[in-house]
Amino acid sequence: MEDLFSQIETARAAIAGRTSITPRVGMILGSGLGGLADEIENATVIPYAEIPGFPRSTVHGHRGELAIGQLAGQPVMVLRGRFHFYEGYSMQQVTFPVRVMKALGCETLIVTNAAGGLRADWAVGDLMQIADQIFFPGMAGHHPLVGPNDDRLGLRFPAMVDAFDTELAALAHTVAREQGTTLHAGCYFMLTGPTFESAGELRFCRTFADAVGMSTAPEVVVARHGGMRVLGISLITNIALPDGPPANHIEVLEAGEAAKPKFAALLKGILAGM
Ligand code: HPA
Repeated sequence: MEDLFSQIETARAAIAGRTSITPRVGMILGSGLGGLADEIENATVIPYAEIPGFPRSTVHGHRGELAIGQLAGQPVMVLRGRFHFYEGYSMQQVTFPVRVMKALGCETLIVTNAAGGLRADWAVGDLMQIADQIFFPGMAGHHPLVGPNDDRLGLRFPAMVDAFDTELAALAHTVAREQGTTLHAGCYFMLTGPTFESAGELRFCRTFADAVGMSTAPEVVVARHGGMRVLGISLITNIALPDGPPANHIEVLEAGEAAKPKFAALLKGILAGM
């Protein structure tokens, strides 16, 4: 089998051969948030199935295609639908698209997700700038950088205390303020899922973090390994409290749907300000 570096190059070449645009910003749109991809101008849309090495998306609400074009004046590459560890993909597969983004020329990753809010005073539909993350599966060894390191891709021991770019975060807060959108800052706790958290797990998570979800952290790690700047934004789709009602996927998708215009406006404002 080809090594990772060659697999990335094969996927890069397949995508680059179909567009004349060099994307500078990579975006990953989470559950229910994919609609923004429809607003890309001069879009080249490529189903994941047509890209060598790309896994396929299996979750409802994730379409499984990427789009390259212009959005708010920036050359972007948008992943509509991501791969989750809970679907059975390896951490290497989950993060492969980020490697390809970087290889195509993206210097920045904007990553979004749907997350459960762990703060009782937050509301469904609020947004959270991810200022920090706890990659819980990674701490337990499910980590995309385990294995031989290819120095062409990044350092053996990349730092993560500065994973989230403070300038991009400041820009996000400025734009949110201008738009009258609530944007908290907080720590994102990643669990594998696919179960929503038990009461005890929620008590555990809220001791250390402000929102909980099943994605994002591995992509952030690999983006940082590759030297990309990272901005992360969570949409709070439910408030996940130990004594609250059980979470469910329908409410997650509905909250994503309701927040679409606001979230899209924020992301476009950020792109325009970059
Ligand atoms: N827990 C985990 N993942 C999630 C949640 C949640 O409450 N909401 C959206 N994604």
